[in-house]
Amino acid sequence: MIRILTLETTCDETAAAVVTDRLEVLGTMVASQDEFHRQFGGVVPEIASRAHLERILPIIDATLKQAGISLDELDAVSVANRPGLAGALLVGVATAKAICLAINKPLIAVNHLQGHIYACRVALALAEARGEGREARSESGEEERDDSCDIFPCIGLIVSGGHTSLYRCAGPIDFELLGSTIDDAAGEAFDKVASMLGLPYPGGPAIQRAAAEGNPKAYRFPRALLDDPERLDFSFSGLKTAVRYKIAGPGRADFSQIQLSKQEIADIAASFQEAAVDALVGKAVQALQKTGMSTLCIGGGVAANARFRERMAQAAAQHGFRLHIAPLNLCTDNAVMGAIAIERYRAGLFESLDLDAFPT
Ligand code: KG4
Ligand code: ZN
Repeated sequence: MIRILTLETTCDETAAAVVTDRLEVLGTMVASQDEFHRQFGGVVPEIASRAHLERILPIIDATLKQAGISLDELDAVSVANRPGLAGALLVGVATAKAICLAINKPLIAVNHLQGHIYACRVALALAEARGEGREARSESGEEERDDSCDIFPCIGLIVSGGHTSLYRCAGPIDFELLGSTIDDAAGEAFDKVASMLGLPYPGGPAIQRAAAEGNPKAYRFPRALLDDPERLDFSFSGLKTAVRYKIAGPGRADFSQIQLSKQEIADIAASFQEAAVDALVGKAVQALQKTGMSTLCIGGGVAANARFRERMAQAAAQHGFRLHIAPLNLCTDNAVMGAIAIERYRAGLFESLDLDAFPT
């Protein structure tokens, strides 16, 4: 059995896991930094790097303890070295290198975005191991197949705080970019709109909570680029500006004096969420239709959104495609998705100790 320690420090979660080549998770820990960034309404890169530095070793210790193994029983160490915040990435990269040097085991670099899609595969394997394979597949609209853990080939949709992109995924580490946001990421739009509405960071869960009490048809906000099915890009800045005008009117930058009722906040949150979800569902369906592919896999923090999940499931039923959305605990950043390192291990794709971090 191959056991890999996976590290994740690309943004504001410090995470480690021990995974096996059978996609078992022996240990997993995530330390969120939300409490540090909340007062700033977004991730402050310098604070993120420092928090990673303080937490990475205790998190690794706790993960190994949970897995019941010691460092020298590992077969490799992997780290997400792209994309992300430069300082944050460097903490993970330097830590992984140091451990590999100390235990003389191979170093593996993984792409954080590919990991978000791979989370769907890990989730299927975990469900299978629990004997839930059949239900997990039928829930996702998938018919029975021998290789039921295999989600590839698929269209991959990543919806996170830093990225909103569509990929043609021929295999776990064979991704071709089809389109991405030309301005804000979907999660960034949720965070910014939440901040305009006086809701706490991270904005996604706060918008979802507020929207539950609101009317999604109260305001008609724009759904950008949906009228051009050939173009698989996203745009959320127009939506964000429309919400800003609705709250404060054109040309006003200061939101502190604006008093909205609880119902107005709920209605704006629900109408914004509906517009953002419409754009994401619409483009994903266009990508499937344009490429002729029949499986859609989704990862990233925004995929935790309940309305998004509901609408994607409806679209899968309506258009007849297989849908895999990472489970809630594997949507936001975690190290279990670093199990994609197993694919690189098998392919012999190891790194030297001069491995660098690639922010973009
Ligand atoms: O994937 P992730 O943890 O980090 C990045 O790689 O960016 O995504 C974080 C983003 C944040 O913008 C957060 O507001 C959003 O995911 N998010 C949500 C929800 N939970 C997290 N957005 C909408 N609804 C949610 N329930
Ligand atoms: Zn992420």
